[in-house]
Amino acid sequence: MTGIPSLKSHFAFAIGAAIAPDNLKTHDDLLPYHFGSITPENAMKFELIHPHPEQYRFEAADAIVAYALKHHMRVRGHTLVWHNQTPNWVFEDASGESVSRDALLATMKSHIDTVAGRYRHKVYAWDVVNEAISDEGEERLRSSKWRSAIGDDFIAQAFYYAHQADTDAVLFYNDYNECFPQKRDKIVSLVKDLIQDKVPVHGIGMQGHWNMESPTLEQIQEAIEAYATLGLQIQITELDLSMFAFNDKRTDLQHPTQQMLDMQATRYHDVFALLKSYDRYISGITFWGIADDYTWLDNFPVRGRKNWPMLFDAQHAPKAAFWEVINS
Ligand code: GLA
Repeated sequence: MTGIPSLKSHFAFAIGAAIAPDNLKTHDDLLPYHFGSITPENAMKFELIHPHPEQYRFEAADAIVAYALKHHMRVRGHTLVWHNQTPNWVFEDASGESVSRDALLATMKSHIDTVAGRYRHKVYAWDVVNEAISDEGEERLRSSKWRSAIGDDFIAQAFYYAHQADTDAVLFYNDYNECFPQKRDKIVSLVKDLIQDKVPVHGIGMQGHWNMESPTLEQIQEAIEAYATLGLQIQITELDLSMFAFNDKRTDLQHPTQQMLDMQATRYHDVFALLKSYDRYISGITFWGIADDYTWLDNFPVRGRKNWPMLFDAQHAPKAAFWEVINS
């Protein structure tokens, strides 16, 4: 790739990408050159890797891990305990009744043992618990089936099990809307309590699903500083910069306008300049995708709308945003 600098060689922190198994072929031109680590976007989620009580499906995750090893890339595991994309059988017995605390803890333990155990020393870090904090209101934790059956210590238990399964893995608490003050403070207080209780938690995952105006740079900065007080490492785990504000529902665009591309380039520049100034705390940045031809933001949350959140365009050429990141 003459003349195009490699992202992963450019920064003090590790640079990664989330991928679908198909991307090993479709994005092989970009993956090993630019990215030092990969996260399976879906392949290690509960519903895909453990769809039935007695059935694990490892093919997709194994293929991603094998590719990473072949190309000397690291793997971030995503995710062990989450309220979404987890099958009902986990929470219900054969007659549809909710399972007991002990039964759900046993399922959690055997799932984590099996998955984190299988990838021991291959997956270097795990998002152990994803998105357990409530977005609004006074309550710290969201309601979930994990929480209602086990109790609030389901989070601590997940970290204990993950640490038992792979004592070398770096264990993250991962969440979104992580820069909004109310939620940020709840995340800090949760993790502070975990640390106080000697729960093996090693990192804060700031998902980083941001857009052109939100969160503000000040909010991002204040969030990093708040998480840094915990003394753990911080990673941006799912970075993408949507072209659309949360309430913008327009669906008329087939391509981004020049003005949108310029705005995004500036925003990426500013975000990276800020992140670089905190690289003593931030150990990695993972993009939630590779190039604009494939992103979970197509059709979400607005159906029939394409988005262009990445640094490479749909033909895999570097966008203005790429060069702004390099020059940040
Ligand atoms: C959350 C999850 C991810 C993924 C994204 C959308 O951020 O952590 O696994 O589902 O939503 O792709």
